[in-house]
Amino acid sequence: MSEKVYDVLPQAAANAYINAEQYKEMYARSVNDSDNFWAEQADAFISWFKKWDKVQDWNYHEGKIRWFEGAKLNVSYNCLDRHLEKRGDQVAIIWEGDNPQSDKKITYRELYEKVCRLANVLKAQGVKKGDRVCIYLPMIPEAAVAMLACTRIGAVHSIVFGGFSPEALKDRVLDSGCEVVITSDEGLRGGRPVPLKTNVDKAVAHCPNVRTVIVVRHTGRHMDMVAGRDVWYHEEIEKVSAECAPEEMDAEDPLFILYTSGSTGKPKGALHSTGGYILYTAMTHKYVFDYHDGDIYWCTADVGWVTGHSYIVYGPLANGATTLMFEGVPTYPDAGRFWQVIDKHQVNIFYTAPTAIRALMGQGNELVTKTSRKSLRLLGSVGEPINPEAWEWYYHIIGEDRCPIVDTWWQTETGGILITPLPGATKLKPGSATLPFFGVVPALVTNEGDILEGATEGNLIITRPWPSQMRTVFGDHDRFIDTYFKTYPGNYFTGDGARRDEDGYYWITGRVDDVINVSGHRMGTAEVESALVLHEAVAEAAVVGYPHDIKGQGIYAYVTLMADIEPSEELKKDLVRLVREEIGPIASPDVIQWAPSLPKTRSGKIMRRILRKIAANEVENLGDTSTLADPSVVDHLVTNRAVKS
Ligand code: PRX
Repeated sequence: MSEKVYDVLPQAAANAYINAEQYKEMYARSVNDSDNFWAEQADAFISWFKKWDKVQDWNYHEGKIRWFEGAKLNVSYNCLDRHLEKRGDQVAIIWEGDNPQSDKKITYRELYEKVCRLANVLKAQGVKKGDRVCIYLPMIPEAAVAMLACTRIGAVHSIVFGGFSPEALKDRVLDSGCEVVITSDEGLRGGRPVPLKTNVDKAVAHCPNVRTVIVVRHTGRHMDMVAGRDVWYHEEIEKVSAECAPEEMDAEDPLFILYTSGSTGKPKGALHSTGGYILYTAMTHKYVFDYHDGDIYWCTADVGWVTGHSYIVYGPLANGATTLMFEGVPTYPDAGRFWQVIDKHQVNIFYTAPTAIRALMGQGNELVTKTSRKSLRLLGSVGEPINPEAWEWYYHIIGEDRCPIVDTWWQTETGGILITPLPGATKLKPGSATLPFFGVVPALVTNEGDILEGATEGNLIITRPWPSQMRTVFGDHDRFIDTYFKTYPGNYFTGDGARRDEDGYYWITGRVDDVINVSGHRMGTAEVESALVLHEAVAEAAVVGYPHDIKGQGIYAYVTLMADIEPSEELKKDLVRLVREEIGPIASPDVIQWAPSLPKTRSGKIMRRILRKIAANEVENLGDTSTLADPSVVDHLVTNRAVKS
């Protein structure tokens, strides 16, 4: 653990909305006078058609969470209409293409018109308030347009990351009951096309409810359009009006579904609702990134993940910001791309993931120091713990000691940032997400649920709701309660472990369940196992994460073959291919080890603790193996440990 402490930078303090004293005062009030605190924030940040009857109402035992019930608002109105008078001609979205020659700027007025038009197209296709719409798009402005068009008419979007396979797309379309899919001909990443429309065709062949596929022309490659089902976006938007009245939504009406992985079973549809979500994302965007009018703000995430939802689209646009959307990858055309884009668009606030920082750090400093980066004022990190070495590089080399780093801890389920420094208030410690945001009350508990006090380490829970907490698992409220509120009754269990130091700073240590985090992509080991056992040669599979220099965690699969099957390199390739087909390239195992059998307790439970240690090459210290049905299994696995590729 790093012992270093970095004081609040004078230039950050001078600029900031909130200093250390104000943080303490506001935090205390957010907890002790919660209703009034949040009512004031709701007044300050959001335009309501009608105010709420009650600020909050909750019961974690029932998984009941309500904020601002009875209030009426519209998210697209908050992100667009209300900005038109003052900043209609201000750029809302800067789009930087995969190809460095292609970029685009879209003003608030232009975005407003695009959103109204697509909203009218959706209506013309029969989409009504409450209906679900699947968005499977690359990082192009139409992704934001599609999100906002849904919110305009009260439809619930479900974005599926463009890296997911047709099979994974199909599962999500079916589970959420989408009848319309918005996609594009192709995506482009690192100069290579991604066959999005073709993937949709494969997925939708098994989704009888999908009646319309709206296709954005992006790369221009010829596409076969299915008559009666597929329509071109650019043709349809010409047929409709450029005005569309915003639907009045209740604060608790659903806003979107986003699938995320857990320890067991298929990914869950995390359902977020309207009022609390837009308030919390706007407020965190302003205070965590110390966003000021005129700043150019860039979050490098994909809109397919929650970071893209909250901090590329909703939070920034609610605040009237200029948000940069980047289609490409950090290493194309070369590993200096991020820094070149920062100079090109004079980016002030830059938010990325540790895996990207580590990968670029490995390329040396020359590509960085060739660029100016003088516009930068603040740096952010999200998605996984940032190791102090990467933090220091980010701070000294990228930010030249002049930009605070906000290491923001949060989750798909939390909708917005929960633990984070505030740049004008919080001293930084490399590797620590530091302190809770307003209204957030974290605690650490033992496995038995006893609350731990002071400097300690344990399981991270949150003891009361905040406005952007997910409201349910779409279609399965019992699963919501079982997953988050049963382990430590009356509290939200995050699935993460954390350490708290003597200053009350939180250091997230990673997942304590069977979820792994590969390059910031969250995955359930059970999902990868389910894909592997689909192969007829496979009898059983167990998947664990292992430490990986760049990705944070890599995927290590132990595979037991059917009795008559011979292991081979060919079979390994087949298995990797199968996982890519079932889930997508992000789930490809890095290592496959043939395991004649797996270490199990006498009751048949796989002892993953041991598998994790073998994968991490911590074979000296495997712990107690006496409860295993057959301890010799472990020796075999250790002796035949696969060498990582
Ligand atoms: O383990 C934590 C890790 O990412 C998980 C949430 O993943 P996801 O729902 O995909 O959302 C990622 C983007 C918000 C958490 O349970 N995580 C996220 N941010 C951090 C982090 N771990 C440590 N430090 C962070 N800043």
